[in-house]
Amino acid sequence: MRCKHLLILAYRINIIDIIVELRDDCSCFHYYLKLIIEGRMMNKKLLIISESIFNNNTKILAHAMADELDCLCVTVDEAKLLNIDDYEVVGFGSGIYFGKHSSKIIDFVNQLPIKEQKVFIFSTHGNPFANNYHQVLKLALVDRGRTVLGEFDTAAYDGTGPFLIFCGGNKGRPNQTDCKRARRFIKRLLPEHSVVDLYENKLKTKNKVVEGKPNIYEVDSNILCGDKVSVNHNKCIGCCKCVKNCPLSVFEMSNGKAIPIRELDCIYCGICKKYCDTKAITLHGNNYDYIRVAIRHRKKQGI
Ligand SMILES: Cc1cc2nc3c(=O)[nH]c(=O)nc-3n(C[C@H](O)[C@H](O)[C@H](O)COP(=O)(O)O)c2cc1C
Ligand code: SF4
Ligand code: SF4
Repeated sequence: MRCKHLLILAYRINIIDIIVELRDDCSCFHYYLKLIIEGRMMNKKLLIISESIFNNNTKILAHAMADELDCLCVTVDEAKLLNIDDYEVVGFGSGIYFGKHSSKIIDFVNQLPIKEQKVFIFSTHGNPFANNYHQVLKLALVDRGRTVLGEFDTAAYDGTGPFLIFCGGNKGRPNQTDCKRARRFIKRLLPEHSVVDLYENKLKTKNKVVEGKPNIYEVDSNILCGDKVSVNHNKCIGCCKCVKNCPLSVFEMSNGKAIPIRELDCIYCGICKKYCDTKAITLHGNNYDYIRVAIRHRKKQGI
């Protein structure tokens, strides 16, 4: 049996930890292992599938969206190794080639079993306008029983056809603004999947934080700890990197999970987030918090 199939099987029957101990030297083994481990730690309800054959333009957008949703982002070949039916919402995107999405992604959709599932579509294209570019993929998805929740597209670098005269059109795109737009689109489309939104929308009415005692909430199967600096305990792997690197010693470990015990000391420098490989940490500082923190630290230093 090829190692990727062995890994998928191991993942399905939940013996991945044993398999990790038995790893061999096959390079693709490590690749698929990484994919599966990442998939295990991320939002398991959502998946993004994208194809980017020209300049990675669509890949940049796909990763910005996946980052916003904290979900797995794969190519069509990688998606074939997953059970697409397991996902609540799936995003499909690619560049536009001769007026439609990549044939690879359309063929993939055409071979899916008919099933009710929520999907969204995205693309990048050289033309400033999307025209009817999504139509073929959209019809294929609807034909397979899918409900299209929304669509996103943006112009991106194109070095083909008439654009060659100008050494390529839409240079530098997708840029930061395009990625921000893509993130905003995804947040509006699926607000229930953003941890920040969980705090903003569902926890607004909770009691105010008691200093030194971070609140612990269970929201949509996530165990969230802390009000101003929160750690998602479903994602925390207890690596201690936040404990070691936070300049204000905000975190302590308890039962293998990070607790933002001194979250009111947080100066929102973002170092912990940078070190946290599993993206377990969310910072909820607003303007009021920044002022409060400044006053608090001045008082502490007796200024
Ligand atoms: C073979 C080919 C055909 C293309 N056809 C179109 C097209 O019909 N309309 C359009 O607006 N852009 C077209 N483009 C431009 C791409 O859609 C654009 O560069 C896109 O961002 C590429 O995405 P990618 O880097 O993810 O592959 C074409 C590009 C290539 C390479
Ligand atoms: S860095 Fe992230 S994963 Fe590691 S202990 Fe801190 S919160 Fe948990
Ligand atoms: S943002 Fe900075 S101060 Fe706040 S918890 Fe993270 S590392 Fe510590």
